[in-house]
Amino acid sequence: MEKVIDEKVQGNTLTLEARTANSRKLYIESYGCAMNFSDSEIVASILADQGYNTTNALEDADLVLVNTCSIRDKAEQTVRKRLEKYNAVKRTKNPKMKVGVLGCMAERLKEKFLEEEKIVDLVVGPDAYKDIPNLLKEVEEGRDAVNVILSKEETYGDISPVRLGGNGITAFVSITRGCDNMCTFCVVPFTRGRERSRDPQSILQEIDDLAEKNYKEITLLGQNVDSYLWYGGGLKKDFKNASDMQKATATDFAQLLDMAAKAHPEMRIRFSTSNPQDMHEEVLHVVAKHKNICNHIHLPVQSGSTRILKEMNRQHTREEYMKLIDRIREIIPGCAISQDMIVGFPTETEEDHQATLGLMEYVKYDFGYMYKYSERPGTNAARKLEDDVPEETKSRRLTEIVDLQQKHSAIRTASFLGKTVSVLIEKESKKNKDEWSGRTEHNNVAVFPKKNYKAGDFVNVKITDCTTATLIGEAVELS
Ligand code: SAH
Ligand code: F3S
Repeated sequence: MEKVIDEKVQGNTLTLEARTANSRKLYIESYGCAMNFSDSEIVASILADQGYNTTNALEDADLVLVNTCSIRDKAEQTVRKRLEKYNAVKRTKNPKMKVGVLGCMAERLKEKFLEEEKIVDLVVGPDAYKDIPNLLKEVEEGRDAVNVILSKEETYGDISPVRLGGNGITAFVSITRGCDNMCTFCVVPFTRGRERSRDPQSILQEIDDLAEKNYKEITLLGQNVDSYLWYGGGLKKDFKNASDMQKATATDFAQLLDMAAKAHPEMRIRFSTSNPQDMHEEVLHVVAKHKNICNHIHLPVQSGSTRILKEMNRQHTREEYMKLIDRIREIIPGCAISQDMIVGFPTETEEDHQATLGLMEYVKYDFGYMYKYSERPGTNAARKLEDDVPEETKSRRLTEIVDLQQKHSAIRTASFLGKTVSVLIEKESKKNKDEWSGRTEHNNVAVFPKKNYKAGDFVNVKITDCTTATLIGEAVELS
């Protein structure tokens, strides 16, 4: 199915007719983090200007783009499998199709991709998407094309994303790119480059556009949102000192969040991801102050052992993290907190693992994402430490933290029994077509009978039952 989208692209208002006139077909799929999904919307916007509309059918596509993830080896293997699939479709059904690789794997493997995967015509890193029109010309002339140059400035702030496959209700708005933190296990600083913040005016403009199109919830997105700092663009180190930066009317994350919440009190606002070492208390006060900022903080810790945190180059101890948790609970009572955890980081002992379980008991996270350590080539951990925790130990530790998290998630969902919560309807429930599915501000999924409500409505739902991860209830009218 072809999508015809009427919206602004690169400052030009593209009319519906202009888009209808687009004759070429783009198939784009994304793997990995929310930032990749958001980037694909930027790429679709750039290509809409080049005569491409999106299609959901590989067989029809003139151009197939896959936005890739390098965070763990498994993520890369998934992409390799997709390339095999494209290869099969190209051979049997669609010989004209060209294939491009975007994102973190493109950046990591560069030209090597062309040698390793014959199907690939185009390799584009995360900061080079504006060059895709030029690169496509090369491809059309029969040459392979690669641009993996990382930028100190690019934020795509001037591009209005084409919303792909969304529900028309929730959207991501990216506020920073790259990451300067250099956690020793993480490939992101290598694949996405130095951290840059996007001009607050362009962020607010994008939120205005979304509000106008009746979107009800946005998530401000960055690898490390708390280090958002706008002082006119470029890298922080380009300014000689802090007062120079101040002079340039700096905006930090707390201010940005405050501005967004004030500008659209009817819209729900979320943000992700917070890094404990950069989270300022001011942000917590802003969350507490605005009803429309969701009381949920995704606060990855990775490990509960101070020794491992140090090896990971995370700039805080277990105790400092616990203090931050205490402050969150004081300033935002009832705030949902979620985690990312890694088990089996090099040198992790049973004692370190117990410290992780202990920290989880202390926090009782609402939910979390848990992983086995996967060594990434080029990272400091890969260069300096041997991946020495046996696979079976990693698996056992992962099972233990997943089980504990499930227990905590179940306690948390059960705590909503009998309560009435506001749910933003996103879609029909997968399990029952007579029910809506949406999320609470604490990011719990809730399902309830449809009645006369529609997608995009905020509904008060009385919770009568639950599973570990889902709240089940009934819409109620509040008098
Ligand atoms: N700050 C980022 C983190 C990106 S990576 C954000 O916006 O979420 C997401 C998660 O993947 C990390 O928090 C970490 O738990 C996990 N991860 C990163 N590198 C990993 C590796 N080498 N092995 C296993 N898990 C990893
Ligand atoms: Fe990766 Fe650490 Fe940045 S996990 S994205 S280097 S905050």
